[in-house]
Amino acid sequence: MSKDPNSEIPKWKQDFPIEQKEATHVSRREFAKFLTLLSGALAVGNTAIVVKSLAFPEKPLEGEHAICMESEVREGDSFMFEIEGSKTIPYLLINLGNGEWRAFEQKCTHLSCAVKYRHDLGQIECPCHKGYFNPRTGDVIQGPPPRRLPQLEVVIREGQVFVKAQQS
Ligand code: FES
Repeated sequence: MSKDPNSEIPKWKQDFPIEQKEATHVSRREFAKFLTLLSGALAVGNTAIVVKSLAFPEKPLEGEHAICMESEVREGDSFMFEIEGSKTIPYLLINLGNGEWRAFEQKCTHLSCAVKYRHDLGQIECPCHKGYFNPRTGDVIQGPPPRRLPQLEVVIREGQVFVKAQQS
């Protein structure tokens, strides 16, 4: 007498007779649909970014902003600060000594790593890919950064340090 082939198959498997291979199979059509949806989502995201930047352009820095007292930053030291309302944060204030002060955006012009002033080298360093900038002008000395660091003008008045947009 022959055995019923279904008698050894568990009941649950009889109710859902789908092989694992079939369940995990992704057809070419489904994959193309997924890629199309993904491309569409990326296009919508990029368009939203462009529209936002066109509709709400970053305003240039207006007026003077008090940062700290002159006595708070020793010669050769630097100080990180933010300006309320400015999207470009933070900035780097440097006391070069002999009354020379400089302020730059702290974002490297290569891939936006935070730069820091190295008094021992007399340069501003980006530790990510060893980019170096001139601490007086912000010009690139060495490394991959494509542009100089954007600079602010520093004004010292009655022992207080202020910054404002640099007059071109
Ligand atoms: S991010 Fe500054 S050198 Fe690359």
